[in-house]
Amino acid sequence: MDYNVYTEALSPHLEGVLTKKEIRSSIEQPKHESHGDLAFPCFQLAKKMKKSPVEIAQELAQQVKSQHIDRVEAAGPYVNVFFKRTIFSTNVLNRILTEEEGYGSNNLGKKENAVFDFSSPNIAKPFSMGHLRSTIIGQALANIAEKSGYTSIRINHLGDWGTQFGKLMCAYTRWGSEEEVKESPIPTLMKYYISFHEKAEHDPSFIDEGRAWFKKLELGDEEATKLWTWFRDESLKEFERVYRLLGVTFDHVQGESFYNDKMSSVVDELTEKGLLTESEGAHVVDLGADSPPCLIRKTDGTTLYATRDLAAAMYRKTRFDFSKSVYVVGAEQQLHFNQIKTVLRKMGHDWEQDMVHVPFGLILKDGKKMSTRKGKIVLLEEVLRDAIERAKENMMVKNPGLMNKEEVAEAVGVGAVVFHDLKNERMNSVEFNLDHMLTFEGETGPYVQYTYVRTQSILEKGSGEAKVNTGLMDDGSWEVIKELHYFPRAVERAWRDYEPSVIAKYLVSLASSYNKYYGKVKILEEGQEMGDRLALTKAVGTVLQEGMRLLGMKAPRRM
Ligand code: ARG
Repeated sequence: MDYNVYTEALSPHLEGVLTKKEIRSSIEQPKHESHGDLAFPCFQLAKKMKKSPVEIAQELAQQVKSQHIDRVEAAGPYVNVFFKRTIFSTNVLNRILTEEEGYGSNNLGKKENAVFDFSSPNIAKPFSMGHLRSTIIGQALANIAEKSGYTSIRINHLGDWGTQFGKLMCAYTRWGSEEEVKESPIPTLMKYYISFHEKAEHDPSFIDEGRAWFKKLELGDEEATKLWTWFRDESLKEFERVYRLLGVTFDHVQGESFYNDKMSSVVDELTEKGLLTESEGAHVVDLGADSPPCLIRKTDGTTLYATRDLAAAMYRKTRFDFSKSVYVVGAEQQLHFNQIKTVLRKMGHDWEQDMVHVPFGLILKDGKKMSTRKGKIVLLEEVLRDAIERAKENMMVKNPGLMNKEEVAEAVGVGAVVFHDLKNERMNSVEFNLDHMLTFEGETGPYVQYTYVRTQSILEKGSGEAKVNTGLMDDGSWEVIKELHYFPRAVERAWRDYEPSVIAKYLVSLASSYNKYYGKVKILEEGQEMGDRLALTKAVGTVLQEGMRLLGMKAPRRM
């Protein structure tokens, strides 16, 4: 609702007592419609004016006037306002019809660069559920940042370097088969990796051999490099299939290996600034009593995950001059990112304040963590294909005559998985249940998509033009108008809290208010108001579609 209008109407009567900012921040949205569109509580005033809040509310209710306000009522300590619905709905609808998908944008970002480090799976390993969450949340945040006036830069920080590749090479050269890898790359490499650990348990010499392979790789040995490139290419091919299904794109695939030639300058800088100390042969940055030291270089001279992240942060600052750098990575890496930021601060790079770790909770299956370790592999691609298949089965029942079923089933199946992930606050864990995700009722992707389809089919059937004539004032449309009006604030909040769930929840309540309206009102009944009702329908369609786009979902026109 229009907080500004109410603030302006109140402020002349509270001059010298409360500032406009204070007034605005105390205005509330009442829970019940009968309490008006907005309410102003008088407790704060009561203290300042040494009068009872009920008395103040009564006085203010007499005084407040505005051409946009229909009536003002005191209810106990609250001053409730009711807006002039026709004026208000006319403004909101006209704004959406003019701005179209631009509605809800803001300019918080002032075109500055925001870097998003997300997805970032590890090569030669299956794309895990955690990486799925990072991919979905990261993609949504990058879109929401753009809507908020930033230029988003999407980076896939592939885990494509580290001692594990030495182990893998050891395993492959000892008992691997080229055909087997080609046939089914990731599961096979994963199998080798697991068997490496099993064998190393009995024979520690494997560990040394693995280490030697990694050392060779770091020194640019030809055979090691060839194997590594091959493992990487095969893995990327598999990841690409998942990205294509999810509609995810990156501006840069700069994995950990990208920083191989960019780490020595970081180590030099740390040395120059006297931050590097030796501890049991390794080089570390001491972070005081509250944090374990940050490991920079191992005894054998090889570098670490943290070293590569330091190099990456420095590179990104120089290359993109970001005003925000967001890392969408599971909560278990909290300490790692704290360490990176602290090291950068010690180096004197105060821009580390613009780096944000956006963590998230786990995906659970029957209350337990879905794990990729010990061979309990959940292949993400299979999960998505499964969702698409089920969406198609549903469709066969609900709408057997539908054209382009494949395309729609993909949009619905993938949309269901995406929405299910984003509808809860990101720190909550997500229970993975395809049946729940795919129902058309309740807080699901298909429900939102289906409501969009409804708006489109009404617009197709309607003979008149979607145009505001008189403005709407019935209770059903008023609930929808209030939701529509809220969209820009939902975008702002989603960005401020790095919380796509704000948008997901918003879409559910917009959809449900529209569906209630649809149940109550004959939208296509001829008459003066039909244009207005179609305008409302069109506005709802526009906002639902734009909201889904922000979340990374497609909006089919039919389903
Ligand atoms: N590959 C890492 C993992 O799977 C995630 C990388 C996140 N990004 C980063 N810059 N550290 O745990």
